[in-house]
Amino acid sequence: MAIPLLIDTDMGVDDAVAVAWALASGNEARIVGMTSVEGNVSLAQATANIARWLAGLGVAEMPPIGQGLSQTGRDMPMASHVFGDDGLGGVDLPDPTDFHPTDFRSIYGQAIEAHGRDLTILAIGPLTNLAALLDETPELLARVGRIVVMGGAVWCKGNITPHAEFNFYRDPAAAAAVLSAGLPVSVVPLDVTCQVLLDESHLAHLARSRAARGELLARLIRYPLVREADGGCGQFQVHDATALGVILRPAHFLRAAMGLDVVTEGSEAGASRPRVAKDKSRQVNVVISVNAADLLEDMLESLCDEKFVV
Ligand code: RIB
Ligand code: CA
Repeated sequence: MAIPLLIDTDMGVDDAVAVAWALASGNEARIVGMTSVEGNVSLAQATANIARWLAGLGVAEMPPIGQGLSQTGRDMPMASHVFGDDGLGGVDLPDPTDFHPTDFRSIYGQAIEAHGRDLTILAIGPLTNLAALLDETPELLARVGRIVVMGGAVWCKGNITPHAEFNFYRDPAAAAAVLSAGLPVSVVPLDVTCQVLLDESHLAHLARSRAARGELLARLIRYPLVREADGGCGQFQVHDATALGVILRPAHFLRAAMGLDVVTEGSEAGASRPRVAKDKSRQVNVVISVNAADLLEDMLESLCDEKFVV
């Protein structure tokens, strides 16, 4: 049976790769709701990007879509320097006119009411929406089967400060609240996601694959790839698709149960601090390793609709 999936996203390029893979996964996962959160781009842009990307992929029937929250307070960076001003590499996408997002709370409420323990939440942006739900209706998230979070830099250097990964940095208090609430959370940190890399050879396969989405994905990913090539190594880290991989291909990962505290203020805000937690209710599952080659092979096979050897 397809896993009912609610995706909470700040809709940058790697979020879009994850959404494309979820849609391409056939009977493995079914998107039952999507909610936007500010992060890579503004809240309005993240919300619009959900509709633009689904329309670009030719999704005939949009899943229920809700607009979430922005982070207030600290003047924080977004990610236009990586993903472009629109967050999706400036790729030419439709702008659906018949698109009327509701409030994120109704998307969560409906999905949890309909699917309960069968529901998996994939949180691939700052955890602002989930923390708000925890605060307003604490019993709601407790009914969910699983929450998979892309975030944190546990033993590696951060990607927005030396201490912090972007999603946790943008809302450290939200991350701290969600990870300490005793919820069934799996954290997929930068330590692991930075190992799953796409390069030009993968884009070439995508571009010539028989899947219509392939050419669009190649154009989408080329933007950050070239940008990273400006100063990087011409490879693109698919953070959010790796987090989806934990749901679709769990055998490619190892995980360990531990406490994970998040620093909420000061120069190390957003830093993740692992600790031994004997009390299971204070633990989260932290993904500690990935078989990147096998994960990439499976991801690209789904995206290309054809056998793929990396
Ligand atoms: O640090 C990487 C994470 O921050 C990814 O989810 C990326 O899309 C941004 O949201
Ligand atoms: Ca993201």
